Amino acid sequence: MSSSATSLFMTGVLMVFMASWCVPLGRAQTYDRCQLARDLLHKYKLPANQISQWICLVRWESNFNTSAIGSLNSDGSLDHGLFQISDLYWCDHGNGMDGACGLTCESLRNEDIKDDVICAKRIFRQHQHLTGNGFNAWVAWKHRCQGNTDSYIADCNTSSSDDGSSPSLGNDSSGADRERKPQLAAQPENPQQPNNWLWFPFSHAFPTGWLFF
Ligand SMILES: *[C@@H]1O[C@H](CO)[C@@H](O)[C@H](O)[C@H]1NC(C)=O
Ligand SMILES: *[C@@H]1O[C@H](CO)[C@@H](O)[C@H](O)[C@H]1NC(C)=O
Ligand SMILES: *[C@@H]1O[C@H](CO)[C@@H](O)[C@H](O)[C@H]1NC(C)=O
Repeated sequence: MSSSATSLFMTGVLMVFMASWCVPLGRAQTYDRCQLARDLLHKYKLPANQISQWICLVRWESNFNTSAIGSLNSDGSLDHGLFQISDLYWCDHGNGMDGACGLTCESLRNEDIKDDVICAKRIFRQHQHLTGNGFNAWVAWKHRCQGNTDSYIADCNTSSSDDGSSPSLGNDSSGADRERKPQLAAQPENPQQPNNWLWFPFSHAFPTGWLFF
């Protein structure tokens, strides 16, 4: 077997490998709406009575695109990821200036939304303090989500799939329970917690090849 045949073979193997990796990666940018509602409630512990507003906010900020970049700001700043978090103050471009959330803007555009949610909670708290409603930080929420947002999750089954005893949406006492510990939000959440959804937050499952990266 000549060396050119060998390298042809290797190129073929490499191309198949890359195709199996890249194609689903492109699709993985869109977070399933109802899965996001479940994850925000059960995995990231947002208050039950806020979930439909977060879903409305994400719908009109990024349309559920985890890698969205928004450039509509008049000052030329950019917004990043599912929650369209601004690089003017919150995330860091690697130019020496630390964003208030202590993370890079790039990390807000990957498929792992854990850091996005932690940062969004921080923004929410600051604006809750400043204006009495944390959602005021998001222009799209102000324009689109101030009324009744129930319809954004009305068709979703928000029960936890791994714990039948978890409270469902609409139980105000469980929402109040969650709101008592917002100061935990800025800290990384317990990494030991089993995370069944970590690899399956999107409507399309990743190929096995994904796990090797
Ligand atoms: C998500 O946003 C990125 C960056 O703006 C864009 O390239 C990509 O096409 C978007 N994906 C979808 C599904 O809209
Ligand atoms: C909602 O999901 C839970 C957990 O997956 C399941 O046990 C329950 O039957 C579902 N409810 C409906 C109405 O589909
Ligand atoms: C809400 O949850 C609490 C305990 O978590 C339970 O005692 C109460 O009955 C629930 N209320 C409703 C309306 O489901």
